[in-house]
Amino acid sequence: MTDPRLTELTTRVPSLRLLTELADLIHYGRDWTRRWGPSPLAVALPGSIEEVQAIVQWASERQVALVPSGGRTGLSGGAVAARGELVLSLERMNRVLGFDATDRLLSVEAGVTLQAVHEAARSHGLLYPVDFAARGSCTIGGNIATNAGGIRVIRYGTTREWIGGLTVVAGNGQLLELNRGLLKNSSGYDLRQLMIGSEGTLGVVVGAQLKLTDPAPPAQTMLLALPHMEALMQVFGLFRAQLKLQAFEFFTDMALKHVLAHGAQRAIDADLPYYVVAEYDALDDADEQAALLAFEDGVREGWIADGVIAQSQSQAATLWRLREGITESLAPRKPYKNDIALRIGAMPAFLHEMQALLAREYPRMEVVWFGHIGDGNLHINILPPEDMQLAEFIAHCERVTRLLADTLQRHGGSISAEHGIGLVKRDYLGSTRSAAEIALMRGVRQVFDPSGILNPGKLFE
Ligand code: MLT
Ligand code: ZN
Repeated sequence: MTDPRLTELTTRVPSLRLLTELADLIHYGRDWTRRWGPSPLAVALPGSIEEVQAIVQWASERQVALVPSGGRTGLSGGAVAARGELVLSLERMNRVLGFDATDRLLSVEAGVTLQAVHEAARSHGLLYPVDFAARGSCTIGGNIATNAGGIRVIRYGTTREWIGGLTVVAGNGQLLELNRGLLKNSSGYDLRQLMIGSEGTLGVVVGAQLKLTDPAPPAQTMLLALPHMEALMQVFGLFRAQLKLQAFEFFTDMALKHVLAHGAQRAIDADLPYYVVAEYDALDDADEQAALLAFEDGVREGWIADGVIAQSQSQAATLWRLREGITESLAPRKPYKNDIALRIGAMPAFLHEMQALLAREYPRMEVVWFGHIGDGNLHINILPPEDMQLAEFIAHCERVTRLLADTLQRHGGSISAEHGIGLVKRDYLGSTRSAAEIALMRGVRQVFDPSGILNPGKLFE
């Protein structure tokens, strides 16, 4: 440990665990994007709020940039430390602190995994409803920093809806207790909500009070094969009107190809361009009957070509794997990711334009579409041809993303639905947010982090 700044930090916080081995710098210096070479100064692993405060105070005085870090499963480069920053990992602060049964609030430290939150909620007979495939590795602090969405937003909304209170260390080391679990609180600006989705640029989330709810009703899972994109929108409309949806996710034949090659079971015979995994309440025979009728209506209209209804939990898991395994199956190809949001009503027109744009601009590349169609959220993953250099591939994708961002702007959409802006979409923020909004965002940042040490370069430069 040769850097004098680190010697000073350990003198200031003698109990602090600090990692400086190359393998640790690589491990903690990147997220799932894999586009930027990790190059942190060191990795700090505080074990208490006091240690976090001491690190932030020191960093603010010494102008050392910090990258708050959770499970680093992010897809936008928000947790990448590529410019000599100190990684501030919350992974040791991973305790469930308590449960208030009257208010149905689960108090946790920021480094607890989403899966541990699910298990803790279940142990109290309740549900924390935000869910997605990275549940075993991502942490609640990261979920809050990115306002994570996932596969149940259609029913339960994003992380934002489920945070009753936040404990945050602001950029000057000040400790803030925001909202304290109150259900109603009309006492001015809701700083808790400002923190949610701020990507570590306003404060370090160190703890949260999570709202829990009743367990979801028993559900049935259906896999559908569809002949074209229009059918996808029609079936969504049909199912939303006739069933109580818990999830409505789609993927294309291209995504299916990759997930099958990665070991998933085929589960359906049809070979068609679009697939849907739908989950809906199945409390009784009437619900199951409604699902069959909706399915038959879809078949009669020519929107559904084939389908499978899971007959057991394990079959449902097999169907879900086709959707949830996509990200992992594409990862070895280092895809360029787009994660866009639109009002559902704007989707058909946008999709037509996009398909023409992609066919024109990406003739040599594999374009893999999937996502949360019922939330107006599409993931468009572009895979490079085997013979293309990374730099050429990224330059090409960025040019096309500019066109995509312009198209989105015309349709009133957003360049990030749930992954965040981070480094990946920083240059496109202006297509989603007006210049006036961005100026206000910068002003807010200045208030919470006057020395600009919290995740600099993410969201905006
Ligand atoms: C997902 O929904 O599976 C991820 O958010 C999308 C991705 O990997 O692009
Ligand atoms: Zn997603």
